[in-house]
Parts: sequence; C-alpha cells; structure tokens
Amino acid sequence: MNSAITLVTGASGELGQSLIEALAERGIPVLATDIRPLPPALSRRCYRAVLGDISDPELHTQLLQVGFERVFHLAAILSSQAEREPELAHRVNVEGTFRLLQTTYRMAKRLGKPIRFLFPSSIAVYGLPSLEEKRRARKVREDQYLTPMTIYGATKLYGELLGLYYARFYRRLAPEPEAGWIEFCALRFPGLLSAFTLPQGGTSDYGPEMIHAAAQGKPYRCFVRPDTRIPFMAMPDAVRALLLLTEAEPSALRRHAYNVGAFSLSAEEIAAEVRHLFPEAQISFEPDLQRQAIVDTWPEDVDDTAARQDWGWHPDYDRHRTFHEYLAVNIRRRYRSPVP
Ligand code: SER
Repeated sequence: MNSAITLVTGASGELGQSLIEALAERGIPVLATDIRPLPPALSRRCYRAVLGDISDPELHTQLLQVGFERVFHLAAILSSQAEREPELAHRVNVEGTFRLLQTTYRMAKRLGKPIRFLFPSSIAVYGLPSLEEKRRARKVREDQYLTPMTIYGATKLYGELLGLYYARFYRRLAPEPEAGWIEFCALRFPGLLSAFTLPQGGTSDYGPEMIHAAAQGKPYRCFVRPDTRIPFMAMPDAVRALLLLTEAEPSALRRHAYNVGAFSLSAEEIAAEVRHLFPEAQISFEPDLQRQAIVDTWPEDVDDTAARQDWGWHPDYDRHRTFHEYLAVNIRRRYRSPVP
C-alpha cells in the first residue's frame, strides 16, 4: 500500500482503532476523524486528528484543507442504537455518507486521480423473513434477501448504492483517469470480536460482551436466545480484509459489495467457548424481544465465494484460533485474568 494520506472516519470506534493501529504500523499517515476524541495514544499515531460530526459541512471543509488520497468510511450508528434513534441514524449513516462521497469526489478532481473509498457494510443489509427461511438459507449470497428490516440495514444498503452511483456516474463524466473519480467498494462484515475494544450500540454485541464480562469476573445476561446463530469474525481478519481490498486491482473487483465470512456460531456455542476459557463465567440468557427480532432477520452465515475469487480473501482466524489464540491471550492480558 502506498503511503498516501488516508482518511479514517469513525476513528474512535472499535474497527477504527484497530485499523489505525494497522495503518500506523505500515507507516501510512492517517487523517482521523470522529465526533468523539481519539484515545490519546492512538491520536499520537495519526498524521492529523479532526473532531467533528460527519454530517456537518464544516468538518468537510477541514478534511479538504488537509487533503487525502484514500478513504475508509467507518463512521456509523450501529443497529440497536439506530432503532432507538432513527433520525440520528439517518443523519450519520445516510447524510454523512452522501456528504463524504461528495467531498471525496471533489478531492479526486483536485488530485486528478481516482480515490479508493472503502465502506464497511454489514450482514444487516439482509432481511430473512422467518426463522424457518433463515435455517433453510444457511449461507446467503450478496444478491439474496436484500430487504433489511432495520433502519441500520436500510441505511447500509443505501450507502452501498450511493457509493455505486458515485463510482459509476462520475466515472462516465470523467472517462480519463487523470480527471479523478471514486473507486467504491463495500465489505459486508459479520459480527466482530475484538480483544481490545467493545462495540457500541450494535446487536451482535452479545458475542464480545460475553467474553469481556467473563474475563473481568462479571456476570453477563445475554440478550438473545441460546440458539441464535449469526456469522462472526476476529477483528484482525476484519482489518486484513479492508487492507486486502484496498490493494486489489480495480479490474479484479466485479462487485461493488462483497460478503466476507469466517465462522458461524450460536450464542450457546459462544457461551461454551467462553466457559472453556473462563470456567467461572456466569452467563444467563434473558432475550430482549426487540434485539432478538433484529438478529432473527440476519443470516446464519454468508457465502463469500466472490471475495475469495476476486481478491483472494480468506480468514486467518477460524473459530478455534479466534477464541483459543487471539481472544484468550489478549483478553487475559488486558484484564490481567489468570489462566485456569
Ligand atoms: N455488528 C453490527 C451491529 O450489530 C452489524 O453490522 O449493529
């Protein structure tokens, strides 16, 4: 990856923090932005950090003043919070994305070359109509069940389409590369499991919350049924997927949105892994009707054949490595919990 200034929005979120660490390791200057301040240690690793609301034009003026040549647009309101605050979700996930695409197009015109724009989308773009259909469907392909039942899923799907629109429409206006355009690509992530951070306002959060609670010796009430099954991925694989896709040849990318998978687990299977690592873990199941209804419409697993074929995706962390190497070692270190 060349050392162009790279804009990361949502920099204080859990994916943002991990991505910035990885970019900084590679010596890439990061222009970070978020509405919340970055942890000071992370801020020091960035070329510049700008505080602001992604839907505020003033922030975009500042981003254009610094300049950037690559974009990871991570800023978003996640699914559970979005159901509680739909106006906020629309403002951040839709208006923020629209404004950033416009800003990126202006930047590409100014540079006279294409800018790659990576957009983390989600399994929430899918809407399985019933549990029977969810079980029957198993691994969902990119073009199936695109009828999200949450505002988060709807805004992510629209974000994908907006990106596709900008990439196609402005490319037609500017057929010469030196005229500048947006190379857009979305990655549909499963639930993410990080040893270092916790997500905020998501619905797959029961996975990471269960293990972080156990490592701290705290009881955990899981808000979905034990049989609830969705795909999950270790955070290092999520970051690697973003970086791999950034480096892929534009001509190899036959889709504007790709599934990426790693493994699929029920909440009961997560609890079993957590109890294996932390035998004292106190986990109970008290489903919350609204949050349960959200995950019941998400697929059990995703078919990521297209990503494997087009840009060489494969996860490094399967279920065993995720729990027994990545999470076990790093979470124990983080909370200084003893090895049983
Ligand atoms: N993990 C996200 C959420 O739970 C879905 O992409 O909202």
